[in-house]
Formats: sequence, C-alpha cells, structure tokens
Amino acid sequence: MTKTVRKAVFPVAGLGTRFLPATKANPKEMLPIVDKPLIQYGVEEAVAAGIEVMIFITGRNKTAISNHFDTAYELEMELEARHKDKLLQLVRDITPPQVSCVFIRQNMPLGLGHAVLCAEPVVGHEPFAVLLADDLIDDGERGCLTQMVDAFSRTGSSILGTEMVDPRETGSYGIVDTDGEGKLVEVKGIVEKPAPEDAPSNRGVVGRYILTSEIFHELAQTGRGAGGEIQLTDGIAHLMREEKVMAYAFEGKRYDCGSKLGYLKANVDYALKHDELAEEFLSWLESRF
Ligand code: UTP
Repeated sequence: MTKTVRKAVFPVAGLGTRFLPATKANPKEMLPIVDKPLIQYGVEEAVAAGIEVMIFITGRNKTAISNHFDTAYELEMELEARHKDKLLQLVRDITPPQVSCVFIRQNMPLGLGHAVLCAEPVVGHEPFAVLLADDLIDDGERGCLTQMVDAFSRTGSSILGTEMVDPRETGSYGIVDTDGEGKLVEVKGIVEKPAPEDAPSNRGVVGRYILTSEIFHELAQTGRGAGGEIQLTDGIAHLMREEKVMAYAFEGKRYDCGSKLGYLKANVDYALKHDELAEEFLSWLESRF
C-alpha cells in the first residue's frame, strides 16, 4: 500500500448555525481571519504537506468557495491595468499550478462521516487527508498536516490529529482512549462527544485526519449516531476493529474558528503578527486597557 498522501478532503457542507446570520448566504469557511478566508489557510497547509488534489465537499450556498479557487479573469485584468502587481500576484497565488480542485456536492447535510464518504469516487483506493478548515492551526515552522504526513509515511496507519482539551469540554469533541500519552500512540477506543464523566480521557480529536481508504467501507455501513448524523468518529471506531488507528499530538496552536470566541481570538493573534497591521493594532489594543 502506498504511504504517499496526495489528496485532501475539505468537508464544507455544514450549515454553520453557530455563525448565523453571517452564514445564512455565505459559507463559514469563507469567513476571513484578518484578510484571508479560513479555507485558504487550510488549503495552504495542505499544499505545504505536498497535497495536489483538493476535494471540497460542498452544499448549498458554497459557490463562493469554488469561485475563490478559480481564476478571476476580470479582477486580474483590472489589477493588471492598474499596475497593482503585488495584489495581482496575491490573487494568482491562491491556487498553485500543481494543484487541482474537485467539487462534490453533498445533497443533504447528513453529517461529517457522510461528507467524507461523498469523496470516495475521487479518492479511490489510496490514503487521504481530511481537514476541517474551521480548526485553524498556527504551526509556526512545520504545518500540522506536514507533521502528520511524515508520521503516516513511517506507520502507514490512519492518524487522528489530537490535543488535550479542557476536561469540562469533552462533549464538544471526539475523545480517544490511547495506549499511553505519547506523541504518536495507538487508539484503543473513540467516543463522539462524551459527557465529562463518561470520557475515557481528555485527548480530543481536532480537524486533521489521515485515513486509509478502508474508511469508506466502514462509513457506508455506519448508521446515524450522535445528533442524528452519520459521524466520522463512528466510522473510525469501526475501522479500528480492522486495522490500527493512531493518535498524533501535533505541534501548533489550534483556534476553534467554528465558535465565535475562537474566531475572535484567531483574528486578534493573526492581526498581532500581520506585516502591515501588527504595530498599529497593538498600540490601539493597549490604548483600550
Ligand atoms: P460542524 O459540527 O462544525 O457543523 O461540522 P457546521 O454545520 O459546520 O457548524 P455549526 O455547528 O452548525 O455551527 C464539522 C465539519 O463538517 C462539515 C462542516 O462543514 C464542518 O467543516 N460538515 C458537517 C459537512 O461537510 N457536512 C455535514 O453534513 C456536516
């Protein structure tokens, strides 16, 4: 079996109810962190990890995402005519030439597991990554997905990106039971959104996965679970009966941009290190307190 990961799935068909009304007509994944949409951070992380095929699982109101990764001829012509070379380059660099984008429509938002299953015809029989763009990971030097792709090239087993979460918040995550607390350890069990008293640990799964294609077989047989949705966590629990699944403690800081508070924190931190804004923004912030 190949240990190279060439394809990444971006499930972007969720309703984004926590961000209404902003997400009524616009996808959550197009919300900007300072000046760049969340989904672009995710794609950049995937490109850095060597991914060449980006597969977006889309739903209603998601055309902004396909437009974002398509060529914008009129905009480019206009920027060219006005000699805005830097901006022109910035717009052209959004999709590097070696990258292909594929869009698959999830007709009904039946859950994350169902969204991933929709990618099967394009992924085929090879390992692939899944990135949830609303989990923004600031990884400094080595991207979170790059770290996981490296780990996969050593093990060949499915890998879940994990971090220690607040024990009171286990009900917001898939929680794993692992063989020790090491950086890369085997998963013994996984539960979707357990109450703190039922959680096997406080090691939570965040929005980064590398999965073998066997997951499709498992997801196809997974019924509706928590919240009446087909859960990726349940598919992974079934996969574990057939093959090893590993938990990986990535290096980097994660922002839960699916929540308003996490989104605001990300904007502040990214503004504080933004080339053009950092200094002025910091002095404005300081003047507030
Ligand atoms: P979330 O649980 O964050 O749901 O989905 P959501 O709809 O995006 O947001 P809220 O909770 O209503 O505010 C986790 C990921 O799975 C995708 C979402 O787009 C998000 O990236 N997803 C979820 C799908 O693609 N399809 C689904 O049916 C459900």
